[in-house]
Amino acid sequence: MGVVEKFIQNPNLEREEYVALLQASEEPQAAARLAAEALRLRRKYYGDAVYVRGLIEFTNYCKNDCLYCGIRRSNREAQRYRLSEGEILSCCEAGRRLGFRTFVLQGGEDPWYTDERLEVLIRSIKENCPGCAVTLSVGERSYESYQRLREAGADRYLLRHETASDAHYRRLHPAEMSLAHRKQCLYQLKALGYQVGAGFMVGSPGQTYAELAEDLVFLGELKPQMAGIGPFVPHHNTPFKDEPAGSVELTLRLLSIVRILLPRVLLPATTALGTMDPLGREKGFSAGANVLMPNLSPAGRRRQYDLYDNKLCTGDEAAESLAELKKRVEAAGWRLSMERGDAAEELGG
Ligand code: 5AD
Repeated sequence: MGVVEKFIQNPNLEREEYVALLQASEEPQAAARLAAEALRLRRKYYGDAVYVRGLIEFTNYCKNDCLYCGIRRSNREAQRYRLSEGEILSCCEAGRRLGFRTFVLQGGEDPWYTDERLEVLIRSIKENCPGCAVTLSVGERSYESYQRLREAGADRYLLRHETASDAHYRRLHPAEMSLAHRKQCLYQLKALGYQVGAGFMVGSPGQTYAELAEDLVFLGELKPQMAGIGPFVPHHNTPFKDEPAGSVELTLRLLSIVRILLPRVLLPATTALGTMDPLGREKGFSAGANVLMPNLSPAGRRRQYDLYDNKLCTGDEAAESLAELKKRVEAAGWRLSMERGDAAEELGG
């Protein structure tokens, strides 16, 4: 039996077998087989629903210096901004009126946003939008901080691990950052009862199948409720400006593989995928993705949350064009769902 069938029957492979799986999936027939199985599972657990989360990029100040990222602290040309609590609440209010029931507060690692300030913010959102889910995506913090934010009402936390290979992590990040700490944060978040999202970039400079195999092994261990997987896209003011972008096709294969590995996972068709290919998100759904994260940030700020070049920020991904988005999702054969969309639970046994 080939590695593709073996994986479909018993998805937790060893590192070397994942390398073989990735190689085998270069064959279009094998990729199609993985996509078909991914679709079967996604339909089984989520039907035809595509869940939407309103993304609010509330600060692009960042104390980190990740080599790939346009808002790294060394990028002196980035125009920095920080939304006030009032502005963030208006974004949520606008989103709530559009029907959004889950908000993702994403930002750089901005020390101005202390635990106190985030607690006030989370409590106000929960008060203004009862029943809504609040997702944080504000990077590495202490256990105590994660605990306080959880107690203030945060439900979910997105922290991509970026790569689960130690050597590759060091190529992408400055010496003061470590994969071990990032993994520790993810396990702490899980222990505190957050629904956790991990994830990685595809095609970051120097990444091979061996690194991607580490990502798959790690996701199998962590079992996050969500996995954000998108292609690397170069940014002109970073050390990786001349590096090639990651491949859409490989990203799609990985979406299918992760859907099979973690059948109930929430898998966004990412903005980076939509940036690299005008039909990227539709292709993502066909590969097993089931989440979209339209932008609820104030229109004037979107261009400034400049993680990579040509990042989509005025088209269908904008939350105001929800009607357009709905049409596109339906044209692709899916149904836009405004429900909270928690990860499907494992039922007994
Ligand atoms: N290309 C693609 N994705 C990027 N991110 C940051 N910089 C880039 C880039 N150049 C992703 C990281 C981060 C998320 C918010 O954006 O994976 O976790």
